[in-house]
Amino acid sequence: MRRRRFLGLTSGGVATVAASRLAASASAAPKPAGAAAGFPNGFVWGAAAASYQIEGAATADGKGPSIWDMFSRKPGEVWKDGNGDFACDHYHRYKEDVAIMKGLGLHAYRLSVAWPRVFPDGTGAINGKGLDFYDRLIDELLRAGITPWVTLYHWDLPLALYHRGGWLNPDIAHWFADYATAVAKRLSDRVKHWMPLNEPQVFLGAGLIQARHAPGDKLRLNEFLHAVHNTLIAHGRSVQALRASVKQPARIGTAQAAYNYVPASDRPDDLKAARERWFATADDSYKQNGLWLDALLLGRYPEDALKLFGAAMPPIRQGDMETIKQKLDFIGLTLYSADPVRRGKDGKPEVVPWPQGYPITSFEWAVAPSILRLVPTWVHERYKLPIAIVENGIAQRDWVSADGAVHDPARIDFTARYLRELHGAIAAGVPIEAYFHWSIIDNFEWAEGYKHRFGLVYVDYATQKRTLKDSARFYAEVIASNGKTVLDRTTPDPPMY
Ligand code: FCB
Repeated sequence: MRRRRFLGLTSGGVATVAASRLAASASAAPKPAGAAAGFPNGFVWGAAAASYQIEGAATADGKGPSIWDMFSRKPGEVWKDGNGDFACDHYHRYKEDVAIMKGLGLHAYRLSVAWPRVFPDGTGAINGKGLDFYDRLIDELLRAGITPWVTLYHWDLPLALYHRGGWLNPDIAHWFADYATAVAKRLSDRVKHWMPLNEPQVFLGAGLIQARHAPGDKLRLNEFLHAVHNTLIAHGRSVQALRASVKQPARIGTAQAAYNYVPASDRPDDLKAARERWFATADDSYKQNGLWLDALLLGRYPEDALKLFGAAMPPIRQGDMETIKQKLDFIGLTLYSADPVRRGKDGKPEVVPWPQGYPITSFEWAVAPSILRLVPTWVHERYKLPIAIVENGIAQRDWVSADGAVHDPARIDFTARYLRELHGAIAAGVPIEAYFHWSIIDNFEWAEGYKHRFGLVYVDYATQKRTLKDSARFYAEVIASNGKTVLDRTTPDPPMY
């Protein structure tokens, strides 16, 4: 085994463990130039964005207010009091944006539909003009040869539904199913790929417990768990609604946030500990993977969750778990960062600190490429479904350089490393069908406003001018070569987790 030094860490506890883990990273193994097996034929190269983050046009054509319209107006809730009123003005500039996607050679674009455009009050009368926008957008995508993957809910709950209890009201399952039906009726002649809910852990956890995101509440654990159960049922009912109303066979999956753990060393027992921690309900934070995925895919809450949460768990009515467990076609995961884990002295997985100086993004998320190999592997082993990476990307503070270009070498390095690891999982036989970079374009990053930039394409918000970053050109080459440009290399990656 090759041993490498990382940031001068050579001795002592976690540091040594971490350094040896870094040394053992599978990504460090160089592939001889030209000999890489490549990504499979038909692999889907995509990029993603979401309605509130890019569309702007906050009141256009009858759109109703969402919880983000309300929350972002509260002074101090969003960095520099930013909001999505104009964002990237994608609502009006979608043709230009689709042309950019086409220029990059994207196979697929993951977009979300804004519920309050379709139902300004959340339920009741459909606002046809709101759906017209998605009609136009999807037609434009298809003309460009780009497959739309549609998320129904990426966090912009109609405000009127929040006033009726939002995710705390069990009726939301019906409201959401009716909305799913309306969207499917209008778009499913052209849309085949669907994801009902984007990252439910995050919109409930950050929105209802931490008050960091809209609607900005701080609920107790039992109330939060009620909302979790309602949300899972809403997922189930929406899948039923989609299956019942689509005009062609649909591929329906999750867009599940993942809280990731990587082994702190190359000891096999630390690898096991990291895997155990990934699925475990080990604390009462909202950051649970197994709880959601077991409910969605196995139709039961895991034993450790029932034990830990005890009486705080919501009453489970007869038939609830059957409703939640709908047949899904893929597991969509959003994967960004991780924490290192080792086997603790008590035999339990123990989260340990990153080595000092370990690489972080401007979001202060640690860079952990191996999650793109480990997590799909673990998730596929347990649930046996194909995997799609529906978000992965890096926050930076990009700007336009004096030469007029946007140079973002860290985004290129980040993406190449993560993709090499993803390829490692594919090469080992894990069925991974798609990769969506977050994001196609800089955008409104929730509570962080316009502070960070995640895009392959830079946006000057004052002029709405788009500039391709270096990473956009890099990604276009990745796509054109079906991944070969990141696999063909003669030197190993410098170590990282
Ligand atoms: C995910 C969200 C997405 C974006 C990225 C950075 O949690 O789904 O909208 O904010 O993180």
